[in-house]
Amino acid sequence: MTDLTVNEPPMTPTNLYSVTDARELPAVDPAEVIFEIRDCAVDYGNHRAVADVTLDIRAQEITAIIGPSGCGKSTFLRCLNRMNDFIGSAKVSGTIQYRSEDLYGSRVDAAEVRRRIGMVFQRPNPFPKSIFDNVAYGPRINKYHGNVGELVEEALTRAALWDEVKDKLKKSAFALSGGQQQRLCIARALAVAPDVILMDEPCSSLDPIATSRIEDLMVELKRQYTIVIVTHNMQQAARVSDRTAFFTTDVDDAGNRTGRLVEFDATQTIFTSPSDPRTEGYITGRFG
Ligand SMILES: Nc1ncnc2c1ncn2[C@@H]1O[C@H](COP(=O)(O)OP(=O)(O)O)[C@@H](O)[C@H]1O
Ligand SMILES: [Mg+2]
Repeated sequence: MTDLTVNEPPMTPTNLYSVTDARELPAVDPAEVIFEIRDCAVDYGNHRAVADVTLDIRAQEITAIIGPSGCGKSTFLRCLNRMNDFIGSAKVSGTIQYRSEDLYGSRVDAAEVRRRIGMVFQRPNPFPKSIFDNVAYGPRINKYHGNVGELVEEALTRAALWDEVKDKLKKSAFALSGGQQQRLCIARALAVAPDVILMDEPCSSLDPIATSRIEDLMVELKRQYTIVIVTHNMQQAARVSDRTAFFTTDVDDAGNRTGRLVEFDATQTIFTSPSDPRTEGYITGRFG
């Protein structure tokens, strides 16, 4: 069921794309480990950007990644859906198992990985298309055979945007506000029936009201998806996440800066009684 290899017979469109069917899958054990990450490191050419990342990401949880700018949060997040493949100089080492499969195994179809593990970026990036066509885009390129209109409605509903756009689906996505555009990008990610959603500072360009709507949406979505969020905003991590990973940057004698995972624990523990003084320094604002 979790197979990602290229050579297997293709799954039926229903398995792959029907959002309704995805909802009917048996509930996963909330403690189930979705990603098992061991000694993950990323080099850009001869610069080791991030290293020593060992952690488990669990089903139906929001895992937050926090830490100062440049400590490798985005770089690490891109490892989880093989987006680093697009960066020629990037080399990922260590192991990342996704649902017990090696995400970087030679037979794994990276495009299939990116369908199952969707991503939402810092700035909303709708396509220059209508609201409807933005959401229909993924199902169409995946040759979805079902009713695209129903799928679009369902994805927009799940992204808490349907009521605001149902009467203007043919309008350009750019006519929406920033917060609406970001929910549209979430709907676009949901339309291909992902398993995991990665979000890289998804609220950093939004006002507090739009931010709060996205936060509510994340909490709603975690009932069905595994969510990993990079955030600059510690209050946001504290409000929405179940577990938090704190990264920081080490500087060696030669001046090379490498991000490292300092501490990973239940969010409550990270924010009330962290075990590493560097975590405490960061969350109390003395550093970073
Ligand atoms: N595409 C890239 N090519 C080369 N170096 C990069 C690239 N992306 C990020 N880096 C470097 O990797 C380090 C970590 O960056 P990044 O992952 O963006 O950190 P963060 O998201 O925590 O701010 C930084 O030193 C940054 O300059
Ligand atoms: Mg970043």
